[in-house]
Amino acid sequence: MLDLTHVRTTLSEHYDLTPSPELAASMQDIYARMDRVVAPPDWAIYAPYVKAINALKKESNAVILGHNYMTPEIFHGVSDFVGDSLQLAMKAQDVEADVIVQAGVHFMAETSKILSPSKTVLMPDMQAGCSLAESITAEGIEEMRAKYPGAPVVSYVNTTAEVKAASDICCTSSNAVQIVNAMESDTVIMTPDQYLAQNVANESFKNVVYWPGSCIVHEQYTAKDLRDFREWNPGTRLIAHPECPPDVVAEADFSGSTSGILKYVHEEKPEKAMLITECSMASNIADELPEVDFVGPCNMCPYMKKITLEKVLWVLHTMENQVEVDAQVADKARLSVQRMIDLSRKLGL
Ligand code: 13P
Ligand code: SF4
Repeated sequence: MLDLTHVRTTLSEHYDLTPSPELAASMQDIYARMDRVVAPPDWAIYAPYVKAINALKKESNAVILGHNYMTPEIFHGVSDFVGDSLQLAMKAQDVEADVIVQAGVHFMAETSKILSPSKTVLMPDMQAGCSLAESITAEGIEEMRAKYPGAPVVSYVNTTAEVKAASDICCTSSNAVQIVNAMESDTVIMTPDQYLAQNVANESFKNVVYWPGSCIVHEQYTAKDLRDFREWNPGTRLIAHPECPPDVVAEADFSGSTSGILKYVHEEKPEKAMLITECSMASNIADELPEVDFVGPCNMCPYMKKITLEKVLWVLHTMENQVEVDAQVADKARLSVQRMIDLSRKLGL
């Protein structure tokens, strides 16, 4: 666990991190991407961190891969590439850099390390986990194989390296239906997200059996919430992530991965939209789409929200929190992730 007092003292000895309206004003080009959602006094606090991180990235030949759930100051201020789990995994493989800072959760950093073993992969906070990744172990995969002999195991990338190594192929929310449909067997085992599996089953011609895991952010939404919201706020476009229960997805106007949601809103530009997913999604596109009114409640992922500018600066400064994956596990896990990437590329996803 990071000792934040020690972190703050040490960082302040090396960088001028005093809130500065003058510095903030000089970085208006970056602020313009988030000024609808980040207040000027907050930007004056963030600007010194953004400046220090961006300078340190150059010195260390580092890139920051930012997931769509990062807060705006990380998403717009310091990330070199942003995207959903699939896009970030592909980027980790292709990007030319010595160091990757994963602004996301631990399974994403492990995936980057599996795909780029020679790079240093840093996690700003090792405690940034995921309820799905924590819900299953490699033994769970073996249990499912024993229950459904011969059925291939498609594991969500929201899993540990050990689980990926025990699986046949991975998927993300942007390619799950196509990956499941591409399996030769009639029965396909999906782990660990029961809701993603049920949503895939509704769109697939396969018999999908699944592990009972769930995402603590998306499982909180109910179909009644959506019906009530529509009644209270008519004309709102409801857009859900497929980690939501199937009756929630059925009530929504569209369902897709985090990048699928962003693409849909960009293309459709609805007057009012409720993003049934993590809160930062709407904040990150509020400036690009001033014509869209983002309404309604959202839920925060407590794991994603562990990533802060201060912790990003800390790991870049110290090169602490390096993510390592046992070489044998990584070799097996890479096969599952690479199969997914190859199939996704082949299918043009
Ligand atoms: P995406 O692959 O859609 O970015 O989802 C990752 C995630 O953790 C959503 O909760
Ligand atoms: Fe995991 Fe859910 Fe958080 Fe995504 S939103 S990282 S699935 S807990």
